[in-house]
Amino acid sequence: MIQVQNLSVVLNDQPILKNIDIEVKSGEYFGLIGPNGSGKTTLLKTIAQLLPCEKGNMTIAGKHPSDYKQKEMARKLSYVPQDTNIDFDFNVKDIVAMGRHAHGGFFNKNDVDEEVVQEAMVATNTWRFKDQSILNLSGGQRQLVFIAKALAQDTPLILLDEPISALDIYYQMHILKLLEELTEKGKTVITVLHDLNLAARFCKKMLLLKEGQVEAYGETKEVITKQNLKKTYRIHAEIRDDQLIQALNVTPL
Ligand SMILES: Nc1ncnc2c1ncn2[C@@H]1O[C@H](COP(=O)(O)OP(=O)(O)OP(=O)(O)O)[C@@H](O)[C@H]1O
Ligand SMILES: [Mg+2]
Repeated sequence: MIQVQNLSVVLNDQPILKNIDIEVKSGEYFGLIGPNGSGKTTLLKTIAQLLPCEKGNMTIAGKHPSDYKQKEMARKLSYVPQDTNIDFDFNVKDIVAMGRHAHGGFFNKNDVDEEVVQEAMVATNTWRFKDQSILNLSGGQRQLVFIAKALAQDTPLILLDEPISALDIYYQMHILKLLEELTEKGKTVITVLHDLNLAARFCKKMLLLKEGQVEAYGETKEVITKQNLKKTYRIHAEIRDDQLIQALNVTPL
């Protein structure tokens, strides 16, 4: 689905990402982890075509990004930003319906668009806010609305930047399971997560960034190791196989 080769990104004359090589296949649940400031958002935004890359090559579904028209790209990938603060007094349902713009349906809404919007809002439990202003919602509720918008966009690739950072434990699990179901249906998910336990539980493959470079990349078990966590996060951690959930468990000491 996505191939990134030798990617470098420079922002305000500062080298932010250096020589990134990753491949994410269709149907993968891919985790992007790393300390604050390591470049996760920059990488996700570069893949989402929101930032230009200085050097390197990228293909999305086999095509170079410049070979896509804007709307065609918006039918390929959706993006949930890290910061869901918004200054405009938008109606919640209208925000989710913006996800249908790529399908030609924001100003020309049809029944299918209505149905997809409602489905995305029900799945994220945001239908109950449909007539409210986004300004009246809490941080976590707002985050759910932006996830709903991405779901309504109905793209094969979904990019999410810390989508559960403001969510309570019920919604953290709910959203991560929802994304899992989507990958089982063939969609590709690339998500930034800070919670290493949840990342290890849901993501089969991962990229660990450190200071804009790849520190580890591959199967979760190869990435989440004591040594890698010590090198990148400067923590001592015990890593155990949790039989109950069949996943790695990280305990910082
Ligand atoms: N516009 C910019 N100009 C210069 N440097 C920038 C710019 N945006 C981000 N940076 C720097 O790039 C580095 C990576 O930032 P990025 O937002 O990608 O980190 P992150 O891994 O997402 O961090 P966090 O976990 O805190 O969200 C940081 O050191 C940041 O200060
Ligand atoms: Mg970030």
